[in-house]
Amino acid sequence: MLSDPGRTPLHIDLRRHLREKHEDRDLTRLICEIADASKYIINAIRTGDLGMAGTSNLYGEKQLALDVLSDRILIKRLTHSEVVANLVSEESGQVVEIDPNNEEKYSVAFDPLDGSSLVDVNLAVGTIISIYKGSNLLQPGRNQVAAMYILYGPRTTLVYSTGRGVHEFGMNSLMEYTLNYENIRMAGPAKIYSPGGLRSKYTPGTKKFAQYLEKMGTKLRYSGGFVPDINQVLLKRGGLFMYPHLTDAPAGKLRLLYELNPMAFLIEQAGGAASTGRQRILDIVPERLDMLAPIFIGTKEAVEMAEKFIYEEED
Ligand code: F6P
Ligand code: MN
Repeated sequence: MLSDPGRTPLHIDLRRHLREKHEDRDLTRLICEIADASKYIINAIRTGDLGMAGTSNLYGEKQLALDVLSDRILIKRLTHSEVVANLVSEESGQVVEIDPNNEEKYSVAFDPLDGSSLVDVNLAVGTIISIYKGSNLLQPGRNQVAAMYILYGPRTTLVYSTGRGVHEFGMNSLMEYTLNYENIRMAGPAKIYSPGGLRSKYTPGTKKFAQYLEKMGTKLRYSGGFVPDINQVLLKRGGLFMYPHLTDAPAGKLRLLYELNPMAFLIEQAGGAASTGRQRILDIVPERLDMLAPIFIGTKEAVEMAEKFIYEEED
């Protein structure tokens, strides 16, 4: 810790952190339930079956046994939490109505195991969570009351925000999440970038933007997992991730409700920005639960530069 003075030496666990910030009791409970559920997901990743489930999700992707198991773990935990109105997962896309009209409770959209195709090569994966107050899941992302992700890498970390900054916790040997960094802020130029999608399918504006980043000496740092790639941009205090619109996929690949909104909320809370190239991600009014959108996310200046190239090329 002496070598890293920015890091807090105090043993503050997640629940205590939420209490000290005077977060709503039910929201605290919800976030802690998700943190607890993640311990079972870690166990499944470490020791579980790496095979296929024999099913596909609504995006036509083949599901792993681990996708299905992680989904079940979260659904079960959230169903019994007593604080959830509705929930929906990227894996099934079906709303699970628990107390469907209760506006005092919370609704949750989640990607239980993002990047699951990386598990067989032992790369990092994660869980992404978006939380709204009330029963409505089809709201612009700016209405989220909290967002979080858990990253299963060499270490397990949890990053959350309730709109009062972004905080990172690390799992200790007792499987408790304790505070590593409070109020993470991104500063300075983007020194790294993570570009998703095939470059040959980029539109002219995105191609020029990628060339611009390289000319500026921005290093390529792409793991293929959205959670570790975003975590790198956040914890390195700057950088850019993009999964742009492609010539054969005008809406890109990533999902607005389960992936983009929660990450955009977290990165904005750290002083960064998130855009489709034409519009702020958090202002999109979702038409459907399974809506996709392109994304440029990270250091504000880099996101604004992406918007400029896309505007100039009209693509
Ligand atoms: O959930 C989708 C995902 O696996 C993300 O984790 C990742 O950023 C992206 O897809 C990678 O897609 P591609 O293989 O097309 O670069
Ligand atoms: Mn995903």
